[in-house]
This record gives sequence, C-alpha cells and structure tokens, in this order.
Amino acid sequence: MKILLGVSGGIAAYKALELVRLWMKAGHQVQVVMTEGAKQFIAPLSFQALSGQRVRDSLFDLAQEDAMGHIALARWPDVIVLAPASADLLARLRAGMADDLLTTLCLATDKPLVFAPAMNRLMWANAATQENVQLLQSRGWTMLAPESGEQACGEVGAGRLAEPASIVSRVAQIMSHAAEKPNQAWLGKRLLVTAGPTFEDLDPVRFIGNRSSGKMGFAIAQAAADQGAQVVLIAGPVNLPTPKGVERINVRSALAMMTAVQANYAQADVMIGAAAVADYRVEQVAQQKIKKTDDQDRLTLELVKNPDIIAWVAQQSDKPYVVGFAAETQDVVNYAKEKLKRKGLDMICANQVGEGIGFETDTNQLTLITENETVVLELSSKRQQAEALLTFIIEGVKN
Ligand code: C5P
Repeated sequence: MKILLGVSGGIAAYKALELVRLWMKAGHQVQVVMTEGAKQFIAPLSFQALSGQRVRDSLFDLAQEDAMGHIALARWPDVIVLAPASADLLARLRAGMADDLLTTLCLATDKPLVFAPAMNRLMWANAATQENVQLLQSRGWTMLAPESGEQACGEVGAGRLAEPASIVSRVAQIMSHAAEKPNQAWLGKRLLVTAGPTFEDLDPVRFIGNRSSGKMGFAIAQAAADQGAQVVLIAGPVNLPTPKGVERINVRSALAMMTAVQANYAQADVMIGAAAVADYRVEQVAQQKIKKTDDQDRLTLELVKNPDIIAWVAQQSDKPYVVGFAAETQDVVNYAKEKLKRKGLDMICANQVGEGIGFETDTNQLTLITENETVVLELSSKRQQAEALLTFIIEGVKN
C-alpha cells in the first residue's frame, strides 16, 4: 500500500515516527509530508531515515517539485493519513485552503482521507474544532478519534493522538473496505425522497413544527446515491448538509412539499416518503405577529387539513413504487399495516418514536412491511437501516 503521511505541528508528532516504522515493517511505501509547524517538533531527517524517502515540505521548492510535482504526488498514494492533525490543520482543511504542500495535496486528491487529531483538551473541545471535524467527516473523511488521558501540557482530558498501532490497524481496515467492489444495485434507478419536518407558519415569527431531524431521509438519499441512483431529495427545514451527488430541493410547508413532489414524482422509479409532514396548517397565515392581549386567556387556532402527499402519489396512474414511513409511539406494526392499506402504498417502514428513539437520534430500528411480508431489522445506524431498506426495495422492484 502507498501511504502519504501528513504530519502537522504538535508534541504528538514524535508518535508519527512509530507509525512510519510500523508501516515500513509491514512492507508498505510511506511518503512523509510535513507542515512548517511539524518541523518545529521533529527533524525531517528522522522521517527520511525511517521511510527511505525524502520528506516533502514545500510547495515552491524547485528541487522537490522536480522530483515529483505536487499534483503527481497527490495522485501517488492509496490513502492519505494525517497524524497528528493539529487544530490549525483541520481549520485550514475545512476552509479548503491550499496554503502549503499538505493542504494542497488534500485538496487535489480523490483518495480516502483519514485524520487523527491531537491537541490540548480545550482546543479539542472548542466548538470551532468540533465543527471543523464534523464538517470534514460529512465530506467523507474518516476521523480516528483522539484518546483521553494525561497530556503533554500536564492537563488531563481528550485530545491525545490515537495509539500508532491502532491507527495502523484502522487504516488497514478502511483500505480493505475500500477495495471491496462498491454496491451499485441502484445504478440507473431514479429515487425521490422526502425528508425532515414541515413548518406551518402561523404568523411571520411563529410556526407549528415537529421533532423530525431529517437524518433518516438524508441517510436514504446518500446511500441510494452511493449505490448509483439518481436522487432528488425534497427537504423540509433541517440543518443537514446535502448528501454528495444528490439534487436537493428545500421546502418549508406541507403545501410547498406537495408542489415539489408533484413536479418530480413522474420521473421517479421509487418514492420514499420519510418526511414528517404536518397534518394541519392554519388557513390564512397572519400578515403581522399575533398579539397577546390582557383580556385573552385562551387563543383558539383553527386548522385545516394538509393534503396527504404520499397518498396522492399512490393514486396516480403513472405512480412510482411508493414507500411510506409510519412513526408511532405505540402499537407500531398494526398502525403501519393499516396505513399501508389506507394510503395505497407498496411498502411501509414502521418505527417506534419517543424519548431517545427514532427522532433526533443517529440510530433506528425499522420494520419493513409489504402486503405479503414483514421484516424486522436490527437496531443500527440510520445509514445501515437505509442500506437494508434500499436492498429490500430493489429486490422487490426487480421481482
Ligand atoms: O399519516 P402519517 O403522517 O402517519 O403517515 C406517514 C407517511 O405518510 C410518511 O411516509 C409521510 O411522509 C407521509 N405523509 C405525507 N403527507 C402527509 C402526511 C404524511 O406524504 N400530509
């Protein structure tokens, strides 16, 4: 395996030497790239001696560029590992900067990127760092989380570089996974997904909403796109990044979601309605903020029913294969079966919701129900639930 090891500034940089030693011993090729900060902690010569390769550190050094230009260098590895990844490096990478050789290589590659942060515990806990880490992960980068313990600065907490041996085995795992043939079962299929809540405005500042995070629908959209599907995602108001390769249409209310679905359902082979659509809305949104008055102890809102989007799609003659969701707090499967029939769906995914399950969480447990079959999935991440659901649907659509 060809490994490009990026070392940034921090006391943990000395542990990167052990990484190089372990990889070389296992027969891999290692090319080390150091930031200016890293060179304050370890001499490039140490890495050079272990890796048998000249350490690279400059974007503008003619002699270095002569040996292998930085674009060629970005293409060379099978994987890029950043260890230790300093807070500064993560911030620069998040911003897409290319102000030194290492950041430029990370920007100019399509290879798997793995980063192992190491820093003082307060720097690690800082909201800026946490946000940077989350964003990099949402771009598909893999984080090897820092460990807790005594730090070089004398403090105790999370921020120590993961142990070199565990970095080596995790990178090996990631690479063997990446070498597996990707599942392209949805190649050429067109999928329409609704996700998230809808917000029904009462006046310019208030609305009726619900606790749907949108995570399940977004996980489905991402998993389907990864399996080759052409995905249109109609998203209610949620705070989630757009899945890679997915066309996203943002809406706020049930009526807006209905309009977007009507414009898109006919081009889809499958529709999955994971949105928690509000059942009711106010007929007329107040033009100005509704005032509270001293003599009024009660306020009555009159609500009108929203159209049932998925039931509408299921009635169309050119309808796709329609999959709904039934989030219930009790008697989940029976309610779901009733809903499958009443709405005329091809399939329904039932799940229990309530404190700590289903909504707002990263895990879920779906029961997949068609007219003839009921399959209970095991509790797992929403991504894994999405993959199991997509496999089940595509088998059904094929038969
Ligand atoms: O009736 P209920 O809201 O429990 O049904 C849930 C299923 O119906 C989900 O798939 C949801 O996306 C869909 N739905 C819809 N339009 C509505 C209400 C629910 O598409 N107005």
